[in-house]
Amino acid sequence: MSKTVVAIIGCGTIANSAHIPAYLANSDAEIKYFCDIRKERAEQAAEKYGCGIAIEDYRVILDDPDVEAVSICTPNHCHASIAIDCMRAGKHVLCEKPAARTYEEALEMQKVQHETGMTLNIGVVNRFNTGVNIIKKMIEDGELGDLYHVYVSFRAQRSIPGLGGDFTTKAVAGGGALIDWGVHFLDIVMYCAGDPEPQTVTGQTYCKLGKDMKNYSYLNMWAGPPNYEGTYDVDDFVTAMIRTAGPSITVNGAWAQNIGVDEMYIDFLGDKAGIRLQYGAEFTIYSAKHGALLESTPKFTKTDHFRNEINSFLACVKSGERLPSHIDTVILTAKMIQAIYDSSDQGREISFVKEGARA
Ligand SMILES: NC(=O)c1ccc[n+]([C@@H]2O[C@H](COP(=O)([O-])OP(=O)(O)OC[C@H]3O[C@@H](n4cnc5c(N)ncnc54)[C@H](O)[C@@H]3O)[C@@H](O)[C@H]2O)c1
Repeated sequence: MSKTVVAIIGCGTIANSAHIPAYLANSDAEIKYFCDIRKERAEQAAEKYGCGIAIEDYRVILDDPDVEAVSICTPNHCHASIAIDCMRAGKHVLCEKPAARTYEEALEMQKVQHETGMTLNIGVVNRFNTGVNIIKKMIEDGELGDLYHVYVSFRAQRSIPGLGGDFTTKAVAGGGALIDWGVHFLDIVMYCAGDPEPQTVTGQTYCKLGKDMKNYSYLNMWAGPPNYEGTYDVDDFVTAMIRTAGPSITVNGAWAQNIGVDEMYIDFLGDKAGIRLQYGAEFTIYSAKHGALLESTPKFTKTDHFRNEINSFLACVKSGERLPSHIDTVILTAKMIQAIYDSSDQGREISFVKEGARA
């Protein structure tokens, strides 16, 4: 079988830490282009990895019939436009999370996926995580009983990324902690709970600890250093309550809060058992039997979920198989996130339930 020729669009952190190494490790893939509007980044990649052509305009890729698949690793504001152009040019797309800045942009991407039939997967990488898949299976098999609620916490003490840069500028990122971190947490919930349709959403977002940029204290800053001349107009804290066709969900997330320890976990609450998933780490099962409270932490072989994601993408480009990260499933999370922002802006609950349809 011939190798799949791929192009990397956006040669920053996630491209270098996850996408490029995963393609290089897969003998069925060949990277033909490294593209970045900061040409030096594309050139550095071509030199470092000893392959590929460095370019600064992704439209070169559109015109090259050799390229079958692209990874879009740019900031959020150009996910939709680049993904749409690539699909229209006959390229299969793996686009980093979040799908886009807004639900409307994500719907446009979905529409073009349906029109062109090209693959459009979003980088909801936890769907390729071994532990998350074990939890999903346990829920499907009824081991938790009735999964009635999921509590989501992604709260950090001081972890605002690149203050004043792309991540804290709404016009670029679409939002802050909710769209950047919350998208992963809500995606895990949706995946494990069988992608239940959202019904009502109430949310409140806050732009508090980072807005006085010069007086924001921190120890480390990822995606830094700070740009004090830049913009900070996104949420650093979000709280929300979501009803779905499955479990209800509460969300408390923050890039920065005046708290002592980071709390990054998801509680799946069933009437037979509950699971606490420590984000990116182990999970513990809690239940009760014969008057005793039981607690167990399963041991299993962990795999690299980014490698799994990209290997699956390459395989589906050849086979046409539909992956769990398909835009059609990810769109529900985009809908919920948009509804949380809309609810906060409008000071009201957002309902997707048709009049008179609620039980
Ligand atoms: N899956 C994950 O866990 C994960 C982790 C980190 C980042 N991300 C996502 O990946 C994306 C990139 O994040 P990052 O941290 O790598 O950012 P980054 O700023 O380090 O890299 C982005 C790169 O894209 C380039 N770029 C911008 N516009 C471009 C365009 N039109 N054409 C080509 N290149 C362009 C920039 O110059 C930059 O080099 C974001 O959407 C982010 O949410 C996902």
